[in-house]
Amino acid sequence: MSDSDVSAVFTGGHEQVVFCQDEETGLKAIIAIHSTLLGPGLGGTRFFPYASEGEALADVLRLSRGMSYKNALAGLDLGGGKAVIIGDPNEIKTEALLRAYGRFVESLNGRYYTACDVGTYVQDMDVVARESRFVTGRSPESGGAGDSSVLTAYGVFQGMRASAEHLWGTPSLAGKRVGIAGVGKVGRYLIGHLIEDGASIVATDPYQGALEWLRTNYAQVEIVADTAELIASDIDVYAPCALGGALDDDTVAALTATVVCGAANNQLAHPGVEKLLEARGILYAPDYLVNSGGVIQVADEIHGFDFERAKRRASGIFDTTKKIYALASEEGVPPSVAADRLAERRMRDVGRLRGVYLP
Ligand SMILES: NC(=O)c1ccc[n+]([C@@H]2O[C@H](COP(=O)([O-])OP(=O)(O)OC[C@H]3O[C@@H](n4cnc5c(N)ncnc54)[C@H](O)[C@@H]3O)[C@@H](O)[C@H]2O)c1
Repeated sequence: MSDSDVSAVFTGGHEQVVFCQDEETGLKAIIAIHSTLLGPGLGGTRFFPYASEGEALADVLRLSRGMSYKNALAGLDLGGGKAVIIGDPNEIKTEALLRAYGRFVESLNGRYYTACDVGTYVQDMDVVARESRFVTGRSPESGGAGDSSVLTAYGVFQGMRASAEHLWGTPSLAGKRVGIAGVGKVGRYLIGHLIEDGASIVATDPYQGALEWLRTNYAQVEIVADTAELIASDIDVYAPCALGGALDDDTVAALTATVVCGAANNQLAHPGVEKLLEARGILYAPDYLVNSGGVIQVADEIHGFDFERAKRRASGIFDTTKKIYALASEEGVPPSVAADRLAERRMRDVGRLRGVYLP
């Protein structure tokens, strides 16, 4: 790891970064706590075969910072944290490794709460929780919140309704055509909400199993070959629900939709894309706001999971999306910049109160 890798920890404003190793099980993990201004850092554990430790460090620093913003904007009393386990989960994931990891999470004594992310599942969190109290996203059988894509999709739908109201005056997608890229866990629930609301849908997914699921469950959904065909087709809303970086210069230039609102993380491929979207008159619902239903769902588990309470909180994504559009117009900035500002204000204003000593 180079000096610049290490200095990234300090220049990124992170509070604490912990390297964890257990040679017997092959565990190599990094836990990054970006901010605890609003409360303990919450963010998932990504299990991924990083090419180098430097790459893993860069990812965990970026992701943990993102969680500070997401949790702040979601109105949670939680800061930002994230963890990465280095290695191919299909090859090295064992009960012993996950439990070794759980002991490191426990060692932070509640400064960091973990959850699922790419490469980790509710069953894995059940195992981690055998060694630590600071685990969310466990299975319902273990008292957990279960699959977070339920409220993630619900939150995306709320963001879409708010975008529809902003643009078309009615908080409904009835009669609109929505293009969904990625018919996975979130995409499937999202389709259910949209169909119920009266929208028509065109979708794409390279995975045959996803298309079969569509044909069986929603035969009325039009299927197209790939994302290029999807974005060029006549759609009102584009919902990226697959991978990050969905919005690059070429995609923005080709889009027929006037709203982009989807579940994928880090949709803007590079800084500046938000301005291209604005210049083309495309309303962009900030990804980390509209996909925060998942973190709201797992955060609820900390106090004993109650689905209805978590759903009520996720409904707030509707109002926050509208607030961000209003702030964006007021301050003359794209919605993604307005979202960052709102999150930073909450971290500053509420975080400042923590300086008031309570005996
Ligand atoms: N699940 C959650 O609670 C949650 C929370 C916040 C954000 N997200 C983000 O939402 C996105 C979807 O999450 P998910 O849990 O549904 O994942 P998933 O893995 O269940 O589904 C993703 C789907 O996208 C498809 N896909 C892959 N490449 C594609 C492409 N080029 N074009 C179209 N489809 C493609 C896959 O085949 C898969 O069916 C991810 O970016 C994830 O990080 C998920």
